[in-house]
Amino acid sequence: MVLDQFHSLAVLPADAVFDVRLRYMKDDRGCKVDLGIGAYRDNNGKPWVLPSVKLAEDRVRSDENYDHEYLGISGFQPLTTAAVRVLLGEGSQALDEDRVVSVQSLSGTGALHLAMRLLLATLPKSLVYFSSPTWANHYALSKTQGLETATYPYWDSITKSIDIEGFLKAINDAPSGSVFVLHACAHNPTGMDPTAEQWDMILDAIASKGHVALFDVAYQGFATGDLDRDAFAVRLGLKKLAHNTPVLICQSFAKNVGIYGERVGVFHIVVPRQDPADVAKLKMALLSQLNLITRSEVSNPPAYGAKVVAKVLNTPELTKQWHQDMLTMSNRIKKMRHVLHDKLVEFQTPGNWDHIIRQCGMFSFTGLTKEMVERMEKEHAVYLVSSGRISIAGLNDKNVEHVAKAIDSVVRHFASSKL
Ligand code: LMR
Repeated sequence: MVLDQFHSLAVLPADAVFDVRLRYMKDDRGCKVDLGIGAYRDNNGKPWVLPSVKLAEDRVRSDENYDHEYLGISGFQPLTTAAVRVLLGEGSQALDEDRVVSVQSLSGTGALHLAMRLLLATLPKSLVYFSSPTWANHYALSKTQGLETATYPYWDSITKSIDIEGFLKAINDAPSGSVFVLHACAHNPTGMDPTAEQWDMILDAIASKGHVALFDVAYQGFATGDLDRDAFAVRLGLKKLAHNTPVLICQSFAKNVGIYGERVGVFHIVVPRQDPADVAKLKMALLSQLNLITRSEVSNPPAYGAKVVAKVLNTPELTKQWHQDMLTMSNRIKKMRHVLHDKLVEFQTPGNWDHIIRQCGMFSFTGLTKEMVERMEKEHAVYLVSSGRISIAGLNDKNVEHVAKAIDSVVRHFASSKL
């Protein structure tokens, strides 16, 4: 009987991104290229430990108080208080008015998990809207909590741009009090962000319908190379939304500090302006709820990465170096976009490839079909996820020609003129 229950479990599909990585690692072809996972690689195709992080690690380890004690349940305060400033900026009204609750999380995924748990406790009947397409893990994160999901149109595959009309219509048609998950910048997987004017319309529509905005901030700094500019949507959102509804913000340092496996993130809730006593009461309730979730699931967040990131954020010369590191990464990615685009133009690969240079951040949504992606892997040892998303960070001077030739070859093979 008991064993039957265990046997009744279905085998679930493997996670797409990590599965690509596994297949790539098993491949012994010398020309193989990994464009799957969204992780920065240097021009030699190697993971890059940021110079600012190396310096911070030295300082953390040589501190006379260095130890491996538990953190408090809501995390390392020097991290959470510095992290919110990176997001909201120095002149933030919400910070001046002490309206933000911040707790450390297991990177962006952990912050999203806390957000979903909180939504389950507060708005269990609300629909959670994701962009179509979105990061696949968004669905797993909400569905495992039993939340109902819906999509809003985002990517127009014909024009290779944002379907702003569809997006706005979905906001207006959604039942009031729905949750809209917004990629703050460097949209994953399309690499296409709304313009400032489009953000204005999107956030106005969300505010006027009384929806909740949940910002997923996994790539701050990757869209423009500038952390403040990449926080534009979040900061505008707070101006427009934080009068009526709490705003949820999931912040990851995996990519922009390059500290992927250390799992450093922060979950913030900005509560609306109201009587200061009500603000304080609400903040206390939120903090206690989040602490209970953290305590029961991970006890307390991991310390090492948190101390390293806090050191980067709280030491002026390291912060300066970090901003430089961010530019190093984003400029190399931008350069690779142009090289790939120019090669495809040079090869006269059927279709128009301008979207590769119109997109931003770590990814390009190439428009390659699932069949083309399969052929890229099988015939050319170029690995990417089946949606046709490539991680531009996986390109470098040595492999970009091979990738461009592979794209050219698969596109011609399927004789597609639709790209
Ligand atoms: C990606 O989309 O490739 C990254 O965010 C890595 C991940 O966890 O999926």
